[in-house]
Amino acid sequence: MERGWPARGGFLLCLTVSLLLQGRGDTFTINCSGFDQHGVDPTAFQGVFDRKAFRPAINYSIPTHVNISFTLSAILEVDAHLQLLTSFLWMELVWDNPFIHWNPEECIGLNKLTISAENLWLPDIFIVESMDEDETPPGLTAYVNSDGRTKYEKPIRVTSICNLDIFYFPFDQQNCTFTFSSFLYTVDNMLLGMDKEVWEITDTSRNVIQTHGEWELLGINKATPKMLVGSNLYDQIMFYVAIRRRPSLYVINLLVPSGFLVAIDALSFYLPAQSENRAPFKMTLLLGYNVFLLMMNDLLPASGTPLISVYFALCLSLMVVSLLETVFITYLLHLATTQPPPVPQWLHSLLLHCTCPRKCCPTAAQKGNKGLALAPSHLPGLKEPVELVGKVPEPREAELNGHPDSTRAQQEHEAQEQPLADLWVQFSHMMDALLFRLYLLFLASSLVTVIVLWNI
Ligand SMILES: *[C@@H]1O[C@H](CO)[C@@H](O)[C@H](O)[C@H]1NC(C)=O
Ligand SMILES: *[C@@H]1O[C@H](CO)[C@@H](O)[C@H](O)[C@H]1NC(C)=O
Ligand SMILES: *[C@@H]1O[C@H](CO)[C@@H](O)[C@H](O)[C@H]1NC(C)=O
Ligand SMILES: *[C@@H]1O[C@H](CO)[C@@H](O)[C@H](O)[C@H]1NC(C)=O
Repeated sequence: MERGWPARGGFLLCLTVSLLLQGRGDTFTINCSGFDQHGVDPTAFQGVFDRKAFRPAINYSIPTHVNISFTLSAILEVDAHLQLLTSFLWMELVWDNPFIHWNPEECIGLNKLTISAENLWLPDIFIVESMDEDETPPGLTAYVNSDGRTKYEKPIRVTSICNLDIFYFPFDQQNCTFTFSSFLYTVDNMLLGMDKEVWEITDTSRNVIQTHGEWELLGINKATPKMLVGSNLYDQIMFYVAIRRRPSLYVINLLVPSGFLVAIDALSFYLPAQSENRAPFKMTLLLGYNVFLLMMNDLLPASGTPLISVYFALCLSLMVVSLLETVFITYLLHLATTQPPPVPQWLHSLLLHCTCPRKCCPTAAQKGNKGLALAPSHLPGLKEPVELVGKVPEPREAELNGHPDSTRAQQEHEAQEQPLADLWVQFSHMMDALLFRLYLLFLASSLVTVIVLWNI
């Protein structure tokens, strides 16, 4: 008998409550008598407060409609490593509580009233992507209209998971999703809606966002797919928040200095190759660039391979290549001045071809010995390099080889007097100019590629 007591007691309680509810009448009108003298009478709302554990519905087959809206008030942090977006939202929920109703005319013209939120039933709306525990501040209140429409606003700091793509860093845009959904209620019990358009949300958010930090709000879109978990269908509203990074910090601190260093590196090709300064200069630049990269490493995203890393690697390799080129040219010049090897036939004709004043390599022609600025046809004696070496001490023989034109003979004479070393110096300058052009070509094409990729 004793065991049956609680169950019977519960049943009796239910019966009393239901009798009481019926006794309250059909409208659940709140009695405002005395409000004009003593303020709001808590006992008038006691019936509502007592029901806060249950969804406020008279007919439980009818789902509660909750209208959702939010204002994005700050974009605090975007963490590419953990793929998290930390933002601050003011969430607004509006629903109807059919148990609250009063006649404003009877109640000293009272149209709406704030009620401490802990005394009311609240919809369990949460953000699916949020990775934080709910840190809703305690002691919030809700506005209640005379017809039972309840408006509840709460500030939430959302650390939401977001698929961040930093390839285009620092010119990247991110598209993060906030999915508002009920934790428990299926579509039979709760339906979500919106009483604002998304553009209104976007506009207010744009006006409200206080932080003029790194991120800028581009726009908000929404979608309303229902979510099926097992056999339960949940209503949800997805907001796609598009944000864009303000790149100026990175342009000024990363791209511009890096571009300057590469430009100086390119210009250092104009330092004369014979002087001993070029290689140390480039080495210093390379060192400086490494220090720059080390210092600016903190500004780069901690994970992934953004295009800007490729750009830095490209700049670094251009500098290394230009240093290698200088080493090579210095070696050639050193070889030319100490023990010049015989000039091969093909190289010889190439040199003659290229140093022709109207032909390809003006830099080489300017830098090089003027004695070589001759057409190949004028120099039959130079066809055999070995012959040339042999003939250098005897210029007379060349003169006797049967050239009527005295100037030609003079030129040939000069050319044959040309020491082998000068040929090699000439060749080094030509190589220098050629490699410089190749370097510029590569530099330009890779820069264009990177810029085009960034603009897509
Ligand atoms: C409202 O409550 C007062 C007492 O608090 C009572 O005298 C009055 O009859 C009630 N009015 C209605 C309409 O129930
Ligand atoms: C509750 O609502 C359902 C669906 O609208 C309706 O069929 C049913 O008759 C209602 N029940 C009552 C008691 O009003
Ligand atoms: C929700 O918004 C819709 C459309 O704006 C409106 O018709 C409806 O009355 C609102 N419902 C609530 C509970 O605010
Ligand atoms: C964000 O992504 C969703 C799909 O994931 C897409 O529907 C929406 O158009 C995207 N928004 C922007 C601004 O790119």
